[in-house]
Parts: sequence; C-alpha cells; structure tokens
Amino acid sequence: ELKDNTIIIVLGASGDLAKKKTLPALFGLYRQKFLPRDVKIVGYARTKMDRDEFHKRATSYIKNHDDDPEVATAIQEFKDLSTYVSGSYEDGAAFDELNRHLEEIEARYQSKECNRIFYFALPPSVFVPVAKNLKEHCYISKGGVNRVIIEKPFGKDLDSARDLLSSLKQYWSEDETFRIDHYLGKEMVKNLLVLRFANVAMGAAWDKNSISNVQITFKEPFGTEGRGGYFDEFGIIRDVLQNHLLQVLSILTMERPVSFSAEDIRDEKVKVLRCIPPIERSDTLLGQYVAANGKPGYLDDDTVPPNSVCPTYAATTLWIHNPRWEGVPFILKAGKALNEAKVEVRIQFKDVTQGIFKDIARNELVIRIQPSEAVYLKLNAKTPGLYTRAIPTEMDLTYKRRFTESRIPEAYEALILDALKGDHSNFVRHDELDVAWKIFTPILHWIDGLNGQRPRPVNYPYGSRGPKELEAFITKYGYKRSGEAYNWPTTNLA
Ligand code: BG6
Repeated sequence: ELKDNTIIIVLGASGDLAKKKTLPALFGLYRQKFLPRDVKIVGYARTKMDRDEFHKRATSYIKNHDDDPEVATAIQEFKDLSTYVSGSYEDGAAFDELNRHLEEIEARYQSKECNRIFYFALPPSVFVPVAKNLKEHCYISKGGVNRVIIEKPFGKDLDSARDLLSSLKQYWSEDETFRIDHYLGKEMVKNLLVLRFANVAMGAAWDKNSISNVQITFKEPFGTEGRGGYFDEFGIIRDVLQNHLLQVLSILTMERPVSFSAEDIRDEKVKVLRCIPPIERSDTLLGQYVAANGKPGYLDDDTVPPNSVCPTYAATTLWIHNPRWEGVPFILKAGKALNEAKVEVRIQFKDVTQGIFKDIARNELVIRIQPSEAVYLKLNAKTPGLYTRAIPTEMDLTYKRRFTESRIPEAYEALILDALKGDHSNFVRHDELDVAWKIFTPILHWIDGLNGQRPRPVNYPYGSRGPKELEAFITKYGYKRSGEAYNWPTTNLA
C-alpha cells in the first residue's frame, strides 16, 4: 500500500536521467493521482541553482502539447511540492544539510511516521559514498520506511558487481533496495506472465517439442552520439543484453511461479538463469557501425577513443539446460545505429510434419515490446476460393486497435509506483544479478582483451539492418525465413 508522509529524494536531480525519466515519471504518477497524499519531492545534486531554475529543468521534458489547462495546473502543483538542495556527494556535512531540509518538511506532517524514498539518478562512481552518507545522515529510525532505488551499471563483471553489491549492503538491506531494470516496467514485458500462464493454448506449446528457436531483438536507429565516452567503457552487451534482454529471457522461460509474490517470481527467474552456462565465443557475433548516408561512424564520435573495438552490435546465443528447453537456441541481439527502433520477442515454432504440405511457413509468435505494443501469431490458413492452397497470415492483437481507451504507462512510472508500495517483483534481486554476470563475464573478458587479443567487431553501415554476417548467424541456429508470400501488413505498425 502507499504510505502518506512520504518524501521522494532524487539524487542527481540536475542530470540527464532525472530530467528525462525520473522527474517526468513522478509527474505522470502525480497527475494520475498515484502518489501519496502530501507527497514532497526534493532534488539533490552538486549544481548550485535556485528553486526556479530547478523547476525549469525538472519540467523541461514534461509535455503539454495542447496547452491543456488541467496539465498546466498539475505542472504548477508539481513545482509547488518540489524543492532543491545542492551539495557534494562525498561530504557528510552536506547530507546533514539535506537532512535538515527533510526534517523541516516532515515537521509539517501530522503523523510522526515519515517515509523517505531515495532515487539514485547518479553515476556509479558515487553510488557507494551516497549510500553511506544517506545511511549515516539521512536515515529515519523512528518509524516509517527508508528505501533506495538504484539503476545500472552494477559493476562491469562478476567480481566488480559483487564488490559493489556488498559495499552497498553495508548500508542498505535487500529489503530496502530496489534495483531497477526499466525493461521490467514495460507493459509487454509484464504481460509475458499473463500470456504464458493464463492461456492453456500458449502454455501447451511452450517448450523444446514445439519451439525451434527464439530471438529477442533490440534495435535503435541512433548511435552513441554524445554518450560515446560512457558507452565505450561498457559496450552493447553490458548496456542492453546482460540486463534488459536477459530479464526478458528469464520471464519468457521460467517455470510457473507458485504465486505472484516477489520472491516466488524471482526464485523461478534465478532458477532458469542458473541453467544457462556462460556464453561461448563461437555463439557470438560482434559489430561496430561505420559512417553511412551522411551519418557518422562510432569512431567519428570525439568522445570515443581512436581505434576502439567496442561493440555497438552483438548477437549471442544462449542455451538452457533443463528438460523444457534443452537444445533450443535463444538468440539475444542488440544494436545501435540500425534501420529502425524496435524491441521484440520472436518465437519460431518447428516445421509441421511433412507429407500433405510442402515448404509451408513456420508458425511464429511475435511479442512486440515497442513501439506499438502487439502480439501476433503467424499461421497458415487456406487461401479463400475454390482451391486448396495454404497461405501464411496472422492473428493480430495490436494494442492500439484493441485497447483504444487505455494509456500504456511509462516503465519508470510503473516501477516507481511499485517501489513506493514496497513491491519487489519487478526489481532485480542480488542473486539474479550474480547469475546474470556469470553468464556474460567470460565473453566480456574476452572482448575486453583480458585473456589475449581483443576481438575485432565486423563493420555495419549506420542505418542498416546490422552486420551482413547476421543472416548466416541466425540461420545457423535453425531460423527459417518464411518466403516472399508473407508480409506483415505495414499498417499495423502505424
Ligand atoms: C538503457 C541503455 O538502459 O536503455 C540505453 O543504457 C538504451 O543505451 C536504453 O538506449 C533503451 O531504453 P528504451 O526504454 O528506450 O528501450
């Protein structure tokens, strides 16, 4: 349940994450009346600025296209409940200052029980000092809850992630910690549990007997422009595969949880992840984009070190050694600077028994996470008319068409609301993170050159579908394209 007398403290309030995601999500929740009554928001960062300047930044990504007076009022109210304190991240005295500000606000609350939610919109270099200072200077112990919400990067490999987690654990317990993977807040990712476990027809075909291969694909149409410095240290695998796509994979493949409780769900996720051995080099394809169509290549970015071999594209195949999934390849692929923006899960079923049909298209179930959420099943039907010929067609659940009245929440809105309610189901547990790093650390060390020469990624042009080697890569794992006959009608994408 939601608690009254809550202050949400956004640390790193002058940065990009806060401006683009955290504060707009808080506003979205406020506007829809999902925040506790009397909520207050306090921004904290190093930048010195007055309240007006903070308000200007805090609302710069909140849209009111149609000059809706109701939205304008909500924006004004949102400003009225938000204040700002500047100070360093390392200095205890600065956090005493912050604490005094929080106590002043709390003095106006009727009840003694107050709650503080600390949102880390911070670079990882200050995670530990901030966690420590908050615990030592801003922790309420007289009743109410203290929680921290924190987001990747959680280390760079298994050892550094373990170090970071245990440093943070000195100050904040697992119960108080909410580790965000914002993909877990996306509507279609949350839908996976319902699609799988509320439908006998789906559940019955959900294994190696029916499924040939699965692809989980992330495509972005822009490069690392401006973020190259950060990105180069991490690469696409740490940026997207090891967290977002692996999370999707675990929900897609886990066994049915005993209940919808956070621990029951996360127990099943950890269990299936533990059946995945570290990724093999031979199951990996790495790419880096080069200039094309007037767009710069990765290496043209001034913030990227010259000759960097950092992958901006990766396809990796994972195998799950359990009775349900033995032998089914799960291909995770992600890339920057591609031809389109799309995230989807594509489950390709096996061939039907040959005999009465020849070269008939395979069934595919596609769950499109974004844009334009949809679930569609490619299936064969008889061509209408006076002959018997099969034609590939589809059963189509496009959200925009089917749920015309519903607004799909932003991932961060859903997750912040969960954290306010104390529900951990859609947050990453420490052991989940540990096993995720175990799967990826060996290839990451290979890519980082820790055990010899760094592998050189293949090139692909900015704006293309990815490396030309991709087609052979997915074919190797049994993916079959359905011939010319099938075309997903483009109107569905609009
Ligand atoms: C972030 C990555 O975690 O996810 C970014 O660091 C990426 O590189 C982003 O662009 C994608 O999120 P979304 O919600 O736009 O798919």
